[in-house]
This record gives sequence, C-alpha cells and structure tokens, in this order.
Amino acid sequence: MYKLNLDIAQFLKDYWQQKPVVIKGAFPHFEDPISADELAGLACEEEITSRIVVTQKDNWEVIQGPFEDYDNYGETHWQLLVQAVNHWYPDSQPLVEAFRFLPDWRFDDLMVSFATPNGGVGPHIDNYDVFIIQGEGQRRWTVGDNTPQQCRGGNPNSPLVEDFDPIIDMVLEKGDMLYIPPGFPHCGETLTLALSYSIGYRAPSQQELVSEVADYLLDKNLGQQRFTSASEPTNPGIISQDHQLGIMSLLSQLAQDPASYQVVLGKLLSQNRFELDICEGEEAYSIDDLQDAFEQGAGVNRIGGLKVLRLEKDAQSRLFINGEIYDLPNTPETMLAQLSDHVSFDCETALALCEHAEVQQLLLALINQGLYYLSDEEEA
Ligand code: SIN
Ligand code: CO
Repeated sequence: MYKLNLDIAQFLKDYWQQKPVVIKGAFPHFEDPISADELAGLACEEEITSRIVVTQKDNWEVIQGPFEDYDNYGETHWQLLVQAVNHWYPDSQPLVEAFRFLPDWRFDDLMVSFATPNGGVGPHIDNYDVFIIQGEGQRRWTVGDNTPQQCRGGNPNSPLVEDFDPIIDMVLEKGDMLYIPPGFPHCGETLTLALSYSIGYRAPSQQELVSEVADYLLDKNLGQQRFTSASEPTNPGIISQDHQLGIMSLLSQLAQDPASYQVVLGKLLSQNRFELDICEGEEAYSIDDLQDAFEQGAGVNRIGGLKVLRLEKDAQSRLFINGEIYDLPNTPETMLAQLSDHVSFDCETALALCEHAEVQQLLLALINQGLYYLSDEEEA
C-alpha cells in the first residue's frame, strides 16, 4: 500500500493548481511497484505508448516505441518513458490510488520513466498537473516560474523551452515527490540510474468542449434556438455590439442548460486517452455463474484506468463508464456512489450489490465487456 505523508487539505489550499512544491519523504519506505526490466518489457508491446529520449549536446532525440531491444542505447544519456502503466500493470494501481483525494475524472495516467545518468527529456512546459515521485535512484529537478518562455532555439515547433531561472532546484531521492501545476517550465536531470513515476492530470480545453457539445447537439437535433432582436442598428453595414452579444449569448444559454451539457461531460470525462487492457473472457458469464463466483469468495475489480463516474444533481439515475451511459433508473444513489467511488468489491459487498437486480445486470455486463474482472477474494 502507498500512503502519502502529506497534509492534503493544506496542499489543496496552498499548492494544487497554483505553485510547484517538493515534498521530501512523501512516501516513506517507498518501494518501486515495477522494475526497470518489467518496464522495458511493457515498452515492447504494440498497444502501449512509449518513447525513448536520447540526450545529445543541447539536443533531445525522441524515438517512439514499441522497442525490440535496448542494446543500442548504452549506459548513459537516455530515458525510457512508458504511458498508462496503470492500465497494463495491476501492481502499479495502489500507487495511483494514493492520489484519489483528487477526482477520478481529472486523472490522466501513470507514466513511468527509467532514466540513465544524464538522461532527461529536456526543459519543457506541460498543460497538465503532474506529481513526479522518485523511486530508485536520484534525479535533480529544476522548476521555473510560470512566466512566458521562449521556444528552444527560436523554433516555434520545438516542444522544449530555453533554459530558465529556477525557483526550485532539488535532488529527489526515493520516496520524494515534486508537484508541478500546468505552465511551469521544468527539467529533470538524472544523476544515477533512476525510476520515476508521473501521476498526470488533465482537464478539457474549450476546443474539446465546444466540439463535443456540437457533436451532441447535432446527434440529438438539439440547440435549434436562433437569435431574435428587440432593436436594429441604423447603419446597414454594421453588426452592432448588441447583436454580437445577443448571438453569442445563445452559446452561454447552452452552457447553462444541463440537458445540453450533462451527457457531454459524463461521456467526455469518463473516457481515457490511452488504450485500456480490456479483459474479455472467451465465454460470457451468466447471472448464475456470477452468483456462484461471489458465493465461492470471488471479488470483483475494475480494470486499471477505467473511469466510473456519476454527475452531481444528474437529471437521470445513471453512471458514465468509459465514455458510455449506463442507465440505472431504479438504483438508489447510495449504490451509484458505491459503484463510482470504489474500484473493487469483496465477495460480501458484491453479493449485497447483486441483491439489486439492476446492479447485478450491470456487473454482469461490465464483466462480460471486459471492463471488470473477477478476482480472488484477497485481491479485492
Ligand atoms: C521525466 O520524468 O523526466 C518526465 C516527466 C515530466 O517532465 O513531466
Ligand atoms: Co513535464
């Protein structure tokens, strides 16, 4: 189990989404949930997103995975980064769970990096909040202020920024953690062979929202209201400010109407950016199979990274799972909360949930779709 040694209320008040901070000993007695060899193995898989960054003199070469072997890279100056390790490596899930003091919809993925001395991805800015936890080894991190930065070498297409004046300059050791909000330039430099864990967060952009809302309105043939006016300008060639504001208020009216945005948000925020490790069995379970399994002590778990969300003050009784709506009109809110807040259930809880026919059908459907799986009781 991973337990954060952190005053969460104070962190949320003073740092989250505001300023970077190093928390020394955030995980006392930290143990790496994965080894470098296991990570290297994951990066050989087609469906897993990975890259190697090779550091040359003021140049960072990126090679996209999958990789067949690592023989060419030598002992220093490179770093392997593997995305969504929590989807593919269940032993990394407990580390992710230590961060469920933040809502699941914000969580993007667990990226694990293996870095050799002098390896690093170079100075850059992320659009995401990230917690970087140091496992084995030592890395030196510098973080600059969130002032505008120049693209490296004046190249507007470079993902890197020019060197910056650090406001944080610290060596991270096993169990230390660095939190960086979006917009703060940062750079990790590797001192000794190191494993580090980036817990990343993401929020939708206006572009994404407008495009998702538009798709929904078109699909449901909603949003037909048009602009009407109480007065017209005297010059024929002008679009008056009144008319500009009136037309644009059609959009803000949509943004205030739950019928236009609730489904969009539920679907959008329950989706994953990275592929899930769907765990579909050869043959579908029946209700009786499920009941027998729970009676014999099996528990039930979500696959890694699966988002099961509900909306506060939802117009309907439902869950949003992996971008889909699951209507549960007869399920009490307490059960919806249980299903969305807990990633696993032991056999007793599963049996209690299954007393409710609608929830039993839901669990059956989710297991048969490979989004949940039966587990030994001690795992649940
Ligand atoms: C790294 O571990 O070097 C990359 C993580 C980051 O900068 O966000
Ligand atoms: Co970064």
